[in-house]
Amino acid sequence: MRVELKNIGKKYEGRENFTIRGVDLVIEDQEFCVILGPSGCGKSTLLRMIAGLNSITEGELLFDGKLMNKVPPKDRDIAMVFQSYALYPHMSVYENMAFSLAMRKESKKLIDERVREAADVLQISEYLYSKPSDISGGQRQRVALGRAMVRKPKVFLMDEPLSNLDAKLREHMRIELVRLHKSLDTTTIYVTHDQTEAMTMASKIILLDQGKIQQVGKPEEFYNRPENLFVAGFIGSPTMNILKGEIRGGSFQSLDRSLNIKPSQEDYELLKGYENKEVYLGIRSERFLPDKEGSLEVLVEVIEMLGKEKLLYTKLGEHSFIISVPGHSQYEEGKKYKFSPDKGALHFFDGESKERIN
Ligand SMILES: Nc1ncnc2c1ncn2[C@@H]1O[C@H](COP(=O)(O)OP(=O)(O)OP(=O)(O)O)[C@@H](O)[C@H]1O
Ligand SMILES: [Mg+2]
Repeated sequence: MRVELKNIGKKYEGRENFTIRGVDLVIEDQEFCVILGPSGCGKSTLLRMIAGLNSITEGELLFDGKLMNKVPPKDRDIAMVFQSYALYPHMSVYENMAFSLAMRKESKKLIDERVREAADVLQISEYLYSKPSDISGGQRQRVALGRAMVRKPKVFLMDEPLSNLDAKLREHMRIELVRLHKSLDTTTIYVTHDQTEAMTMASKIILLDQGKIQQVGKPEEFYNRPENLFVAGFIGSPTMNILKGEIRGGSFQSLDRSLNIKPSQEDYELLKGYENKEVYLGIRSERFLPDKEGSLEVLVEVIEMLGKEKLLYTKLGEHSFIISVPGHSQYEEGKKYKFSPDKGALHFFDGESKERIN
């Protein structure tokens, strides 16, 4: 099912400002779309509006072109999975998963098929006859997912469904959810504040901040071409190195004049209008190239070994840079090394509007 939001806004009663404002969005049929953003930005509010659990203050919500604003949740053909799943404690895992289908008077055969199929995918078959109190939190979370799956809805709405799981299980479930989505092809809208989840699972990411969309696109677009400074700082780990400065004589110069970085010819053309104006320069940690002739001579203060890569926490005068290098390369704390920024990978942002320039 295709989900469309037209200029959607939400103002909670008693609140002075809109929590969500001017959200325009199309989620295509069968897409896996992730709504990402920092805590309190309005992700759950938006999802709950799509579910029908929150009223819509302004704008239109359309499912396959049909206006849904006033349609009650049970008639929307959606299934929602929450972070705080509430399983019926007196029912077995099987009964919990079967519950919604039983309420709809589906046949025992169909219910059994669906429950077993979901349990198999979620690897909880051996707990079907346990009570929720007798299984782990992670297993309970999977029962909650299974409960939504058995209904075969037109849209899955998931609000941070993995956040209670430990890191390993979360990684496993991420892949399982993507596989599940591939086999079911159900439109999925998934809310998280975890950019790794968004980057690894989404076919489309929607990044929200303070109730407004900052960028919509594919994960690689977010990483390679963040549209504004907020997106640049939010996506990527370690965080992108960001410097404030000016364009002087076609080059980027830090405000204290200690750094001079020459852009590529292509960027130079786009920066012509910024002569003597403030801009931000962003460089990802892996875009520093070791270079004996390099213009950036940095002092390595701390080295963090992550396995396949090392993070160098460095200083150049007043400036700090995080530089990533292959895990097997040799660097020592307290020593200086020269690097050149990869010219083809510089991100420039307008000093005032904070929008991307190049
Ligand atoms: N029922 C409510 N009444 C009034 N304000 C609310 C209500 N629910 C949420 N808010 C406010 O709306 C804003 C957005 O909340 P929301 O729960 O949508 O954020 P979120 O992005 O899901 O955050 P988190 O990542 O912490 O779950 C917050 O400032 C919150 O306090
Ligand atoms: Mg939330």
